[in-house]
Amino acid sequence: MDEQEVSICRICRLHETRTRTVFGEGDPEARIMFIGEGPGENEDLLGRPFVGKAGQLLDKMIAAMGLSREKVFICNIVKCRPPNNREPSPDETASCTPYLLRQIEIVRPEVIVTLGRPASQYLLQTKNSMSKLRGNWHSWRGIRVMPTYHPAYVLRQYTPETREAVWSDLKHVLVALNLPVPRAKSD
Ligand code: URA
Repeated sequence: MDEQEVSICRICRLHETRTRTVFGEGDPEARIMFIGEGPGENEDLLGRPFVGKAGQLLDKMIAAMGLSREKVFICNIVKCRPPNNREPSPDETASCTPYLLRQIEIVRPEVIVTLGRPASQYLLQTKNSMSKLRGNWHSWRGIRVMPTYHPAYVLRQYTPETREAVWSDLKHVLVALNLPVPRAKSD
């Protein structure tokens, strides 16, 4: 599978309103895969995941982990922007899932970090709230999954509690991978 195949996808209605598909990017051998919900306006224009304000915060979170965008893999549940940034509908998500599954199969990450409620609930097939999900390890087909707050949510709730919660989740990931835990915080 490559970006080209996704770029011509017309399986669901999201293709009608997209500017560009957003395949995902990063190291195909990454140990950590970040999965968001779906492209927003900037991502739709540029064809790259997490390049708007939330993306800048994600970059900071990754930098705080002592890593860089190039060393992880970043993608979304759906590859086309839902109009007005609405949540992807169940049929859109279902149509796009084969692409995500193949990305996970190819990268074979040791840890998946799901960003926000829709991505976390969808991957883990649960209706539990983020306050229950985040901070705890889950498993998806044998891969460890750490849900954490979406960076867009962190920007809306820019409190020490929210930022510390995310940093705590990311520290769990570093420890699980035997990576050094930098002192820096995720802000
Ligand atoms: N929000 C997401 O969930 N994904 C992106 O790529 C950008 C913003």
